[in-house]
Amino acid sequence: MNNKNTTSQINYNSNSTHNNENDFTSTKDGNVDTDANQIGQPINILICYFSGTNNTKKIVDLYVKYFKTNNCNIDIHNIEKGNFDGDLNQYNLLGIAYPIHAFNAPEIVVNFVKTIKKQSNKTPLFIIKTSGEPLAINNISSIKIRKILKRKNFELTNEYHYIMPYNILFRHSDNMVYKMWNTAQNLVPIHCYEILKNINSKLKYIFAGSAVAWVFRIQHWGGHFNGKKYKVSDKCIKCQKCINSCPTHNITIKDGEFHFGNKCIMCMRCSFFCPSNAIKIGLFNNWKVNGEYNFDNFNIEEEDLHKNFCKKSYKKYFEKSEAKIKSFNEMLNSNKKDSN
Ligand SMILES: Cc1cc2nc3c(=O)[nH]c(=O)nc-3n(C[C@H](O)[C@H](O)[C@H](O)COP(=O)(O)O)c2cc1C
Ligand code: SF4
Ligand code: SF4
Repeated sequence: MNNKNTTSQINYNSNSTHNNENDFTSTKDGNVDTDANQIGQPINILICYFSGTNNTKKIVDLYVKYFKTNNCNIDIHNIEKGNFDGDLNQYNLLGIAYPIHAFNAPEIVVNFVKTIKKQSNKTPLFIIKTSGEPLAINNISSIKIRKILKRKNFELTNEYHYIMPYNILFRHSDNMVYKMWNTAQNLVPIHCYEILKNINSKLKYIFAGSAVAWVFRIQHWGGHFNGKKYKVSDKCIKCQKCINSCPTHNITIKDGEFHFGNKCIMCMRCSFFCPSNAIKIGLFNNWKVNGEYNFDNFNIEEEDLHKNFCKKSYKKYFEKSEAKIKSFNEMLNSNKKDSN
């Protein structure tokens, strides 16, 4: 970590409210600009993340950017590289980031948090998750890891869910992807602000959330089962991208034949990024999404492909996000006026 200051502590106060609100400024176009670098004391933050097809990583990168511009020392750890070897007691804040898989955290993330050592002091925890749809049932995905981390002295204070394009089920339209990414870019600085200011923000879990999440964790086992059924078609150009990028090293090639083992976590990386769309994903092949999204391509002519799918919940997500961004910018602008 750069310039780590092990003595600085976040004031761990679960009921704190906005103070020192002049700390952020807003730009002309209404986007939050946190360049002001005024949060105060240096804070050491670790974000451990897993990302199958880069959506979650893109969000984590935004967090890194905004925390850095606010005087924080930030380290990130890619969960697929293995356990975290550093001393967690050196961090004032822990973040865990993951894509939602069947209303749960992916197996690799659950297994990772089990390896985290118990903290000597109570440490605030924030959770970042991405998923393809904004249904409330997705909120339960963190129940398991939150419980595990609570036993290790990490206390959940903030939890944020970003809608990002599906890497399975169906391909989101360019306009929808543009809107999702634009929304996330505007929300992340606000969420960083809340985290750094000890303004708690948690998601509501549905009734019997623990039990529902437990049932859907069959996906962890299902991933291993289905992963063995993956096949490579003759469209393959033998670039070996899939083999080299699989987070669980589940793909091998022998005498020109591909073999998929039983360690698949259905992250979709191999089939999503395959340049010749040559991988069939077993029982879920009809749901395959192949090819990277373009996050910056707004196409005015495009037809809305999502007219009938979770229409209300997407609308609600965007409306709620817009309202939050608007009120945050109003607060910043009024603080700016007051200070002039
Ligand atoms: C196996 C699997 C299960 C998924 N389950 C859900 C789900 O329950 N709810 C949802 O909204 N999105 C679900 N998704 C979509 C991803 O959460 C979403 O596309 C996410 O942003 C991918 O992030 P990543 O690129 O960091 O892997 C699922 C994706 C996969 C591969
Ligand atoms: S990524 Fe696709 S084209 Fe490349 S080796 Fe794998 S299956 Fe073949
Ligand atoms: S085989 Fe493909 S989907 Fe399964 S873990 Fe490896 S990269 Fe992910």
